[in-house]
Amino acid sequence: IKALYGRDFLTLLDYSPSDVEALLEYALTIKNDQKAYSDVLKGQSLGMIFENASTRTRVSFEVGMTQLGGHALFLSPRDMQIGRGEPVKDTANVLSRYVDAIMIRTNSHELVEELAEHAKVPVINALTDAYHPCQAVADALTIYEHKQNLQGLKLAYIGDGNNVSHSLLAIGAKLGMDVTIATPTGYEVDQTIFKRAEEAAKDTGSTLKQTNDPREAVKDADVIYTDVWASMGYEQEQSERLSQFAEYQVNSELTSLAKDDFIFLHCLPAHRGEEVSEEIIDGHHSVIYDQAENRLHAQKAILVALMTK
Ligand code: CP
Ligand code: NVA
Repeated sequence: IKALYGRDFLTLLDYSPSDVEALLEYALTIKNDQKAYSDVLKGQSLGMIFENASTRTRVSFEVGMTQLGGHALFLSPRDMQIGRGEPVKDTANVLSRYVDAIMIRTNSHELVEELAEHAKVPVINALTDAYHPCQAVADALTIYEHKQNLQGLKLAYIGDGNNVSHSLLAIGAKLGMDVTIATPTGYEVDQTIFKRAEEAAKDTGSTLKQTNDPREAVKDADVIYTDVWASMGYEQEQSERLSQFAEYQVNSELTSLAKDDFIFLHCLPAHRGEEVSEEIIDGHHSVIYDQAENRLHAQKAILVALMTK
């Protein structure tokens, strides 16, 4: 994808609707003809900085690089000099002399912006407090595969106004999907990010909404999405959040308001019995494992798009 070569992948909000659509189509193409892409990244390396835990993101990026003929390095700040105070600027410049792209998972979105500013190679955001854009591309791919369409679909996100919900707003806005976020009072999405997504939605006609009423959000929804109530870095709020979010569990009572053929998504890891009941996450509406698999295909598309001309 010419327009994406050499770019950073940080929020999705700075990509045009056609960039995002092209990425999605590319993911489908690569998924359906994996062999044709088995050496497109031959000789290229991806540095993966993980400040926080990960199962899906780490394994799918690493396997994705292998499947594309390249190589991935797992880098932990606990072992790197950045963890002992080496400046982000120096880390960015030095890594750029060795690797062809840098992937990073850390809490601070500003740190990722700073890394991207100094790096001479593409930087991929693999989750910050503010965004989880790789997840959103996999989510859109999964919804598209199950619904054959995205434009005008109604997605309800129930839970914490966090990174995952922000990236759903962003990708919904870019792809013309209607997104409603239902959170408890005090846990709303970041209003600056919401406004930026709303601005982007003007180009595609997508409708973005916020509410404190999960029932309103879920009414006639095609897609119901939830995520953990306490994200990484917020673990100490877990017990307080359990009581604040009690009315926000995705269960059969709540989902009875959605379309009969709704699909259920969760980025995982999940807490059964908290944000979602067992009968929903393990029931026939759930597509969580397709969604997890699609992390691999979506990221291969992102890697090839950013790393090849
Ligand atoms: N969904 C997701 O990003 O999972 P991991 O934290 O396991 O990477
Ligand atoms: N919102 C969650 C997503 C995990 C993939 C977190 O930030 O912990």
